[in-house]
Amino acid sequence: MQVFTTINSLQLALKIARTSHTIGFVPTMGALHEGHMSLIKSAKKKSDKIVVSIFVNPTQFDKQEDLTNYPSTIQTDIELLESESCDFLFIPSVKEMYAENVKAKSFDFDGLDQVMEGAHRQGHFNGVGTVVKQLFEIVKPNSAFFGEKDFQQLQIIKKMVEKEKFSLQIIGVPIFRESDGLAMSSRNARLTDSFRKEAPFIYETLQKAKVFFGMNSALNTIEWVEDVFSKHPTLKLEYFSIANETDLKTATSTNPNEKYRAFIAVFAGKIRLIDNIALY
Ligand code: PAJ
Repeated sequence: MQVFTTINSLQLALKIARTSHTIGFVPTMGALHEGHMSLIKSAKKKSDKIVVSIFVNPTQFDKQEDLTNYPSTIQTDIELLESESCDFLFIPSVKEMYAENVKAKSFDFDGLDQVMEGAHRQGHFNGVGTVVKQLFEIVKPNSAFFGEKDFQQLQIIKKMVEKEKFSLQIIGVPIFRESDGLAMSSRNARLTDSFRKEAPFIYETLQKAKVFFGMNSALNTIEWVEDVFSKHPTLKLEYFSIANETDLKTATSTNPNEKYRAFIAVFAGKIRLIDNIALY
């Protein structure tokens, strides 16, 4: 695996690779786990050469504390990527990506960023859009892979690609879970032992909510989940939402021709966990 820290050196290597190979791209913020690896495995099935980026993007953090505490495991990350036969790793500095202007650009995502994560994390998706757009311009991949773990992010990136007229394919990869159902996340390592034991309750509730939604309205399902969490001794529900999968608009009434998904954010102490489930 070749490792690059500057845009110029990466672009030079990719220019040569691109003449005879397709390029699959997996952007990450590092602290890699099996969820990230599942994206790389998917990318390898569809592309000749794989580019992974590790960049903890400051403009997508609404809380300075989260940015400061973001885990960094670069040596283990490199070993994992080597074992998965990644071809190119890009690890730029903040200065390389932003020069002196560490600011997010403003995007119009047709309202996709106004709900759920966007409503609870001020400016988050403008930060994501800014860095992913720049990474696409640098890497110029044929396809890029994003996890359904961050389903709203996946839809927003698809929207950006459409609006900015990038000629690349965005591919969504299913959520990779621990054996007890907890969605893998870099944040799981920061859970205390007791919260780690409680956390599978989130996915268990999503699965029950899916069954409940089969026989009840969206509104009743939301009330049911809110009630279940209000009785939980330690986990605190931030939001539970049922939305149309494409436009992420809250489902008030349901149409059999549309696909719906349930989205959840929960605080396990100070650690915020998100998950989602298809309701079809
Ligand atoms: P990060 O949180 O590192 O995630 C990188 C990619 O891995 C995202 O597409 C995310 O959805 C995916 N991922 C994380 N956990 C997963 C799991 N359990 N199963 C499947 N996929 C999973 O998301 C970001 O970084 C950043 O916002 C980024 C897109 C890199 C822009 O800075």
